Amino acid sequence: MKKTVLSGIRPTGDLHLGNYFGALKNFVKMQDEFNCYFFVADYHSLTTHPNPENLRKNTRRVLANYVAAGLDPKKCALYIQSDVQEVVELYLFLNMSAYLGELERSVTFKDKARQQPDNVNAGLLTYPVLQAADILIHKAHFVPVGKDQEQHLEMARTLANRFNHLYKVEYFAEPQAYNFGEQLVKIPGLDGSGKMGKSEGEANAIFLGEEPESIRKKVMKAVTDSGPTEPNQEKPEAIKNIFQLMSVVSKPDTLDFFENAYNTCQIRYGDMKKQLAEDMILFTAPFRERINDLLADEKGLDAIAAEGAEKARISARKTIDEVRGIIGF
Ligand code: TRP
Repeated sequence: MKKTVLSGIRPTGDLHLGNYFGALKNFVKMQDEFNCYFFVADYHSLTTHPNPENLRKNTRRVLANYVAAGLDPKKCALYIQSDVQEVVELYLFLNMSAYLGELERSVTFKDKARQQPDNVNAGLLTYPVLQAADILIHKAHFVPVGKDQEQHLEMARTLANRFNHLYKVEYFAEPQAYNFGEQLVKIPGLDGSGKMGKSEGEANAIFLGEEPESIRKKVMKAVTDSGPTEPNQEKPEAIKNIFQLMSVVSKPDTLDFFENAYNTCQIRYGDMKKQLAEDMILFTAPFRERINDLLADEKGLDAIAAEGAEKARISARKTIDEVRGIIGF
């Protein structure tokens, strides 16, 4: 039996190169080896009260990005969370044994409460419970997660064990983090520090569906400095980042050329960024085209979502029926 892998992403619009190299590219490889569930966590995004048009638009964009990146609706269950309403029932059950104290200690809750002090709603508090429901409803063995999500996965294990204890059953197994290890390629942002991410500002990330002109503008604004003064000098953080970005989208020859220019103090960052921008445009072109095609064909995308929802609902329905029986309904 294949093990089950599950991952969700909030509907934030287009995914960026960091998402692609950090997770998506590996998800594509996992499709054959595992029983995969990949979904757009649109219920989760309600904690910030998005307007309906944006919610719908961004959900569809993420779905299109997933497909464009190579997730195959035939191989995995690719679905929109809100199409599988069984998850809400499990969320309710799990909420009965999620305690206020532990929910308040969640780092993401504390962060969000600070970011949106006027909207510290109960959905925000119980966000990890909904996430646990996402995972447990398909009895996922593995969840590929970044550092920031480890606490949520721990919560899923706690709630699984608590349910088992409460009802004296061995029903839920503990989901484990899935580490990509060496396959994980870190993608820095364009602002000279840290990793690529939308939360660091739109200009820090290059999106899979981004238009060439916008890519050019952003890359040309990437942080650099006045250049090396000694041969073979160690690269400062911001320069390392530009080289790292080039290493994932450009040809090895191109990278060698600029390495050499750096080491001999002849580098012109303007030229390097021009080249990087063109290579990023080439790299993202197939994604952009696929995304645009997928979004233009509304019925086609609906059909993809429906196919995924159907698969996910079979597994979710089974869990909910069993859980209801255990609880005494
Ligand atoms: N909380 C995750 C994030 O912000 C998204 C998510 C929702 C998720 N449900 C999940 C991730 C289940 C993994 C498994 O990125």
